[in-house]
Amino acid sequence: MDLSLKIWRQKNKNEKGSMQDYSIKNIEPDMSFLEMLDVLNQQLISGGEEPVAFDHDCREGICGSCSLVINGAPHGPHKSTTTCQLHMRKFKSGDTIYIEPFRGSAFPIIKDLIVDRSSFDRIQQAGGYVSVNTSGNTVDANATPIPKPNADEAFKSAACIGCGACVAACKNSSAMLFVGAKVSQYAQLPQGKVERTERVKNMVVQMDKEGFGNCTNTGACEAHCPKEISLDNIVKLNREYLNSKIK
Ligand code: SF4
Ligand code: FES
Repeated sequence: MDLSLKIWRQKNKNEKGSMQDYSIKNIEPDMSFLEMLDVLNQQLISGGEEPVAFDHDCREGICGSCSLVINGAPHGPHKSTTTCQLHMRKFKSGDTIYIEPFRGSAFPIIKDLIVDRSSFDRIQQAGGYVSVNTSGNTVDANATPIPKPNADEAFKSAACIGCGACVAACKNSSAMLFVGAKVSQYAQLPQGKVERTERVKNMVVQMDKEGFGNCTNTGACEAHCPKEISLDNIVKLNREYLNSKIK
């Protein structure tokens, strides 16, 4: 496949970026999107040019590192697919592909296609965990029976990989699908119930502090989430938050 690429290049967070044109030839349809970018980078390095900076790690859809807006859609136009699992066979030879970083004021651009998503880490650190005694008396997690429907619901929320596509897709840059998934995951489990009141309050306070917007029910987050995290998680987040306020 021969392709034209229009890629956002930006030296650092302080300088202005712009779209730059590249062309690339002989791309195999079975390559992943990131492998196609690897080929482009090899071509740039060989020509003495600076390679395109982009984020990636597992390349198997589980780490949440890859974060490109491809043809206007976070993770590209194919449903339930992370950028690293998107294959070039989904495009046609001769196509022009637009590649940009995730946009959102809480995700400032570091360089080219890499954004700083440490705001998500800080939200997680504010309450996205269960406190356990690790002094040698740790209780085996399986010692606490959990009804199968609860375990299944918790697992669906736990599928969130923290990629941030929900923020990039939302016109308000809302992080409520991400935070909702984390809060709901723990709220379903007996281990998570102990700290549920403080957890939701602290995570929402941190989310607001980071500058994420509020949800106005457009559903773009759910539509672009590669892990099919449902809007129900936002309902659960709101319910947990309200309960914590009443308590
Ligand atoms: S809710 Fe979906 S889009 Fe948002 S961070 Fe989690 S996996 Fe990514
Ligand atoms: S590189 Fe890990 S999810 Fe894409």
